Amino acid sequence: MGPRDPELVPYESQRVAYWYFAVALALFMLQLLVGLWLAISYAFTIPQEIVDALPFGMTRAMHTNLLVLWMLLGFMGGTYYLVPEEAQREIYSVKLAYLQLIAFVATGVAALVGFTFGWTQGKPLLEIPTPLDFIVVVGALMFLFNVAMTVIKGKKTAILGMLLGGLTFLALLYLFGMPFYRNLTIDWFYWWWVVHLWVEGAWELVTAAILAFVLIKVTGVDRRVVEKYLYIETALFLFTGIAGTGHHYYWIGAPRAWLWIGGIFSALEVVPIIAMVIDTFLTQRRHGIAIKNKVVWTFAVGTAVGHLVGAGVWGFAHTLPQINYYTHGSQVTASHGHLAFFGAYALLNLTMFWYALPRLRGVSRFKTSGALWGFWIMNMSILGIGIAMGVAGVLQTYIERIMGQGFMNAQAQMQFWFKVTLFFGVILVIGAGLTMWKLLTQRQSEETAA
Ligand code: HEM
Ligand code: HEM
Ligand SMILES: [Fe+2]
Repeated sequence: MGPRDPELVPYESQRVAYWYFAVALALFMLQLLVGLWLAISYAFTIPQEIVDALPFGMTRAMHTNLLVLWMLLGFMGGTYYLVPEEAQREIYSVKLAYLQLIAFVATGVAALVGFTFGWTQGKPLLEIPTPLDFIVVVGALMFLFNVAMTVIKGKKTAILGMLLGGLTFLALLYLFGMPFYRNLTIDWFYWWWVVHLWVEGAWELVTAAILAFVLIKVTGVDRRVVEKYLYIETALFLFTGIAGTGHHYYWIGAPRAWLWIGGIFSALEVVPIIAMVIDTFLTQRRHGIAIKNKVVWTFAVGTAVGHLVGAGVWGFAHTLPQINYYTHGSQVTASHGHLAFFGAYALLNLTMFWYALPRLRGVSRFKTSGALWGFWIMNMSILGIGIAMGVAGVLQTYIERIMGQGFMNAQAQMQFWFKVTLFFGVILVIGAGLTMWKLLTQRQSEETAA
């Protein structure tokens, strides 16, 4: 991190964000490398000794928990970066912010080491065992307290309200994943309160707030214009997203009414996503704005489009019970999971990183080519992964659920598509590596404003 330039980074405490972003990037790379191993496990028949050393269940837990951890650290870093500028005061306690980072990283390391010894709670995406959950809760409380105190003592804006609301909702939902219910239907019922209501509820609020902050900064559009749409889209998202949880209750033994509620409301979730994309383009056109930071703008538009493709189109494709009956839990789901998580939340985080990191490093203008190459390589390769997994999923669905053949018959036909997944995975690692390298080493150059 370079010396602080008050023109670029007005508040000293914003510098905390640097460490959140740096750790998040390292964990992102680790997540990708483990992802390559997962693809290898599907693409080739591996000697049993290696499978015993790196079993699929363990490495899958690492891949997805690293994902959740780096994205949450990215959101928290983004929050610490934007809150001082919005509230117009320093963060309540910088010490607490560092302490909290240490608590999360220590929990993450303990969880990863624990997984290698089979210490897991077993619930997908939330495998972290209960004792560690309590440290997560303490860390989350420290975070919420720190942000809330800053907002209470400072200026209040719509962005801050939405951000704090989203973060509180996010933390509360985590609690529902902690108890274990002996009845599996009830256990899954609440598991989805974390997984679905996170990505299709709380995370959307946090994303809307961070994106609004960045858009105001790089387009110079009036705050009121951005905020007005922020309210409408988020209200729609909550309305459809909460009832839309029903698209996970079709086959777990919940009442039949969920087939209707889940189908209709989750299909409607696409509306606010489309509105957001149209809105992003119109905002630029209507005001004829000269975009100050081309890289950040590219990533921001990428987030809107990625959200539309991964969550909107790929989500809609299997959300109706008539289709989900066949595709449920197949590689079609994994295909959607990759495109949605990357398109909406990896790109959102990278948008914020590209806004904040050059500034935190004291760079006011920089060359765009490396950043833009990184953008396109990553996006094309994740699309490749999504399509390859999607084809594997359709084969799986057809062979297992329509022809009624066995699991291994389907896997034999799917193997080729996991080789394709692996190929695009390697490209994604290259694109992400380039992006990380540029983010952390970008030097002063005249090309574009930071
Ligand atoms: C950015 C937002 C989203 C993210 C990050 C996301 C991510 C995911 C992930 C990771 C899963 C797999 C969960 C598991 O079984 O382990 C999943 C399942 C699912 N998603 Fe999404 N999703 C998003 C938005 C949407 C939207 C808007 C829709 C519908 C329009 C949708 C429809 C579905 C359906 C139907 C399933 C269940 C698939 C099955 O039955 O196996 N998702 N999503
Ligand atoms: C190097 C690139 C990557 C490769 C080769 C890869 C491969 C895989 C594989 C093979 C699985 C297991 C699917 C199964 O359980 O059958 C998986 C799961 C998953 N990966 Fe990746 N992945 C990569 C990058 C990513 C990225 C960038 C994200 C998100 C931004 C991501 C999010 C996920 C999620 C959410 C799951 C769980 C899906 C589900 O529940 O259906 N992965 N990945
Ligand atoms: Fe969902």
